[in-house]
Amino acid sequence: MNAKIVVIKGDGIGPETVSEAMRALAVIGKRFGHTFQLQEYEAGGCAIAHSGSCLPDDTLAACLVADCVLFGAVGGPKWDSLPQHLVPERALLTMRDKMGLYANLRPIKMFPQLYHASPLLPQVAAQGIDLMLVRELTGGIYFGSHDIVLRGGQSVASDLMSYSESEIERIARTAFEMAKKRHGRVVSVDKSDVLSCSRLWKEVVHRIARDEYPSIQLTDMLADSIAMQLMRNPWQFDVVLTENMLGDVLSGEACMLTGSIGMIPSASLGDGTVGIYEPIHGSAPDIAGQNIANPIGAILSIAMMLRSSFGLLAEAEAIEAGVNRVLDDGYRTVDIMSAGCVPVSCSKMGELIAGAILSSQMYRKIARTLPQPSVQGSKKSKKAADFF
Ligand code: IPM
Ligand code: MG
Repeated sequence: MNAKIVVIKGDGIGPETVSEAMRALAVIGKRFGHTFQLQEYEAGGCAIAHSGSCLPDDTLAACLVADCVLFGAVGGPKWDSLPQHLVPERALLTMRDKMGLYANLRPIKMFPQLYHASPLLPQVAAQGIDLMLVRELTGGIYFGSHDIVLRGGQSVASDLMSYSESEIERIARTAFEMAKKRHGRVVSVDKSDVLSCSRLWKEVVHRIARDEYPSIQLTDMLADSIAMQLMRNPWQFDVVLTENMLGDVLSGEACMLTGSIGMIPSASLGDGTVGIYEPIHGSAPDIAGQNIANPIGAILSIAMMLRSSFGLLAEAEAIEAGVNRVLDDGYRTVDIMSAGCVPVSCSKMGELIAGAILSSQMYRKIARTLPQPSVQGSKKSKKAADFF
């Protein structure tokens, strides 16, 4: 395997967590004999500072010919007052659009070692969370026209939400295919009690289910209802299918339930194998540059990349097993810290996981330099592999 990967670290904690993901990828290359050619490019606020554009032409051009993209995060308060079409977040929206990545997969899974880091009641958290959120990524209100005009002496803002049948059909198929590989259940989210887009959404999703996936169990749920159900019993969900904005909001809620937003990876895919792989933690400017961010979501994004873009299953499992081992042994970044565990920095967490991926010997060598946890992971996982 000789793969060409564009790396965009971006803003805030992006450079810190992506560096640890790159470290994990490097040890995978070493252990399994693959060559990963990494090329770094800029996007987001840092690119505005250097070139005046949040998505320089050379960055986009490189993404369009790469096998896949590893992405950190973009944005921060420094750039919030720029006009809407210039803000750093635009870079990501444009990349998704130009690369045709209409399907965003967010595996919301709670590691059993972390259930007491969840904000859920212990008896709710103890049941576990393992759902795949499938979010439509290149349509809806994020891609409609945005306007602020003066009318009747005051500013009036508008954002257009629209969906075509074909946009809904393809993301519905992504969700149903995912459900076939999991437990065969899809919950489709809408606001059909109010929105026309949601009425069409519901109609099309049901047609695809009836005509092409008769064995999948499809349920509709209103967005406000699922926001509540995620708190009450998140373990009921297998695949959750949503349009763009609702998926953005609900994935923020759902990932926090697993203990920390820093734990969750994502993949943005289209019809082929090219994808953008990105932790969903965002730029977190308040903790940037302190080496305290959680790199696990970024590292697990590499596992998603190896599996989805390159079909390297054993390699992906080696990453997940490495993360699992480090959590089992009680090492924690601050966001997931609990009594008896050993606090480690972002880079130390990355080093431990890379060591665990490479060999037990290497891992023990790194762990020996750290204090020993007094209580090992409260609830060890039974099986290392098979996470996402
Ligand atoms: C996400 C982010 C992005 C989105 C922003 C940065 C454009 O919130 O990926 O969840 O809204 O899609
Ligand atoms: Mg978001």
